[in-house]
Amino acid sequence: MSIVHVETPGGSYPIHVAAGRLDLLAQSIPGDVTTIALISNPTIMSLYGERVLSALAASGKRVIPVSIPDGEAYKNWETLNLIFDALLGERLDRKALVVALGGGVVGDISGFAAASFMRGIRFLQVPTTLLSQVDSSVGGKTAINHPLGKNMIGAFYQPIAVEIDIDVLSTLPAREISAGLAEVIKYGMITDAAFFDWCEVNAEALVRRDADVISYAVQRSCEIKAQVVSQDERESGLRATLNFGHTFGHAIESGLGYGEWLHGEAVGCGMVMAAELSAELCGLDRGSVERVRALSAAIGCPVEPPQWPAERWVELMGIDKKAEGGQLRFVLMPKIGQSHVETVSPELVTRVIDRFATV
Ligand code: NAD
Ligand code: GLY
Repeated sequence: MSIVHVETPGGSYPIHVAAGRLDLLAQSIPGDVTTIALISNPTIMSLYGERVLSALAASGKRVIPVSIPDGEAYKNWETLNLIFDALLGERLDRKALVVALGGGVVGDISGFAAASFMRGIRFLQVPTTLLSQVDSSVGGKTAINHPLGKNMIGAFYQPIAVEIDIDVLSTLPAREISAGLAEVIKYGMITDAAFFDWCEVNAEALVRRDADVISYAVQRSCEIKAQVVSQDERESGLRATLNFGHTFGHAIESGLGYGEWLHGEAVGCGMVMAAELSAELCGLDRGSVERVRALSAAIGCPVEPPQWPAERWVELMGIDKKAEGGQLRFVLMPKIGQSHVETVSPELVTRVIDRFATV
């Protein structure tokens, strides 16, 4: 098992990465917990519910399963209230523990429920998608969506631990693996050129979910994310570099309609666009742009963006929550393994977008 530590002002905690962690969840339940609320959805419960319930029962605590509907469309107030109804209905107290078993949707909404129930109770992340294992379960961003914007209502709230069982990736659809791998290769691009090289060499094994290769990818991704959020929990600077490719990616997601492309797929394509922008603005060499494109394609992400007029892109990116005072902010990569955030004029963005036009 590998252990990665996250240390932030909002809380310090371990991330455990290993095969079979689901069966050992009782080890992460603090002794003074009164009741465990296990929040998940029917898809995950049908695959892993029995195992997880029996692992939690070994802690000797009362366990309340709370089922929420599956899907991004349900990451909203109504579902949050469903969770509160269950917690209040079962008379949970301030020493209760929320266990979030699922992907980023379950993790984000459960974390926000834990942050706000009785002004904050403890929560444990048990991420079951690759994206949630390498990204959303680490660092304490919790949220629900508002009809006017994704992740617009939320809190920074750190879990007491993250329990990653690599085995659960075996049941994930292939597209979800590609979407998670987009975030994995992103870490190489923004901070670790050697990890990027490693991802290139192991791209095929990653897609195939080779156990050793995917374990290392999850562990290294968690290490990098832990380093970043430990330095900048509230995204006052460095943490924003985790959004490499995301400004273009969010535009793709909202322009096509959420769910058409998975978030990670849009980020995979967005990173190719951000690499082109980096070539234009901060000297990323052509060879590196091509390596970014080739690796995004090799992990199964689309690399050709939707064919929209540049004005449509700028409009979609202008409503991105990282747009400050009407200025477009982008994460740029002068070299593979280095990144920073810069304000970019719409004219320059337009010039780069025009390069992706196929007609
Ligand atoms: P998801 O949670 O919707 O899960 C994808 C699908 O896989 C769901 O249908 C789910 O039920 C299913 N699933 C989960 N685990 C499975 C398994 N082991 N086997 C088979 N099926 C399984 O999607 P996601 O990509 O995990 O998360 C996306 C969400 O994460 C978005 O809401 C996004 O905003 C959020 N996010 C948050 C952060 C953060 O820092 N908090 C970062 C990135 C993304
Ligand atoms: N997913 C970006 C972050 O956690 O900051």
